[in-house]
Amino acid sequence: MATNPIPQFPSDFLWGVSTSAHQIEGAADEREPSVWDAFSAEPGRIKDGSTAATACDHYHRYREDVALLAGLGVDAYRFSISWPRVRSQGGLDFYDRLVDEVCGAGVRPVPTLFHWDLPVALDWLERDTAARFADYVSVVAERLGDRVKKWITINEPAEHTLFGHALGAHAPGRRLMFDALPAAHHQLLAHGLGVRALRAAGADDIGIANSHGPTWPASREQADLEAAEFYDLLLNRMFCDPVLLGEYPEGIGDLMPGDVSADLKVIGEPLDWYGVNYYAPTRVGAPQGEDIEFGGLTIPAELPFSVREIEGYSVTDFGWPVVPEGLTELLTGFAERYGDHLPPVVITENGCSYEGVDDQRRITYLDGHIRALHRAMEAGVDVRGYFVWSLLDNFEWAEGFARRFGLVHVDYDTLERTPKASYAWLRDGLRSRPRPP
Ligand code: NOJ
Repeated sequence: MATNPIPQFPSDFLWGVSTSAHQIEGAADEREPSVWDAFSAEPGRIKDGSTAATACDHYHRYREDVALLAGLGVDAYRFSISWPRVRSQGGLDFYDRLVDEVCGAGVRPVPTLFHWDLPVALDWLERDTAARFADYVSVVAERLGDRVKKWITINEPAEHTLFGHALGAHAPGRRLMFDALPAAHHQLLAHGLGVRALRAAGADDIGIANSHGPTWPASREQADLEAAEFYDLLLNRMFCDPVLLGEYPEGIGDLMPGDVSADLKVIGEPLDWYGVNYYAPTRVGAPQGEDIEFGGLTIPAELPFSVREIEGYSVTDFGWPVVPEGLTELLTGFAERYGDHLPPVVITENGCSYEGVDDQRRITYLDGHIRALHRAMEAGVDVRGYFVWSLLDNFEWAEGFARRFGLVHVDYDTLERTPKASYAWLRDGLRSRPRPP
């Protein structure tokens, strides 16, 4: 393999790793339940029948995990704050201790305020949930804002809407198809109100983490091009346009609840940076008249598009294609489309699921994507940071513990952590990176 690409980056580029509360914390009995606890308790929902009741037990072992971060030598740690935990006795104390520990290790804490674990008593179909979110954000910012400077409002509202409310594959397990769209609007409104709450608490380094990937049409046939265009609108632009331009793409606003013009002003609150979670492009074609099994999901026949295999690329153990150049394409496309409306970009997630502790394929994946990111920067895209998903193997939602995205292996019987080859590779690259003067 060629030299590690990390030293090529600017000295103030932010290197980090990401996790989320529900996926690692465990200690579910020490907080209120979330929609994910309720969903996972229903038979058949999680493929391996597991729940995240214990997960990596990070809640009790966070010191060990922060030591792993310190050993890795990252600049920043993206984690998420569990809203149900904050509503529970002593919950915020945990994040207070965690933030102290992270800062004490010389790492910048970057919390995400919502990463899918909604308190079970709340519902994104209700508009009021957005206002409740802003209240919760104020409480958290008040407590942690002296040490936390960089904030992420919400994570992947597109997936939470599509999988959780439209297709029923994730919590809360609803299968509402297009009637799920209010859940998207209310999360976006929560994002905007969250930005306002953070600003009111004095924050000036705020972003969102949206998932994006290029949409590749199955062919140049009109029907495939139209289906791909619609998919792109629904999964990419519906979540990016309102945040960056303060408007929904044409036709989408009419599907939202009521008159959303005033809300769009809130949703379009200026951000300090825009977070992108990138995994792979999606090949999309015209509907095929039958349900399609794809990437662990059932894509129903009634949707106006279908999703196809991407051929000619290797795949991860999750079956996702490995397409580093998709990241260059995505970022240069974004800069072109949004121009001056695009603030600096941070890659808030990128990673892959492979078995094994000698995970050479993860090294190849990360190396390729970091190079692809660098190419986008050479082409003029302003990218300021890159976070690997994930520090630890963890609870991969409906897939349970079967998918391993970590730089550190977790034995779920003993909870023992074992750094993988990719951990050593990243650590060595980070050691030789340029540092700010
Ligand atoms: C996106 C999500 O934010 C994260 O929770 C998930 O584990 C990874 N992608 C991998 O699927």
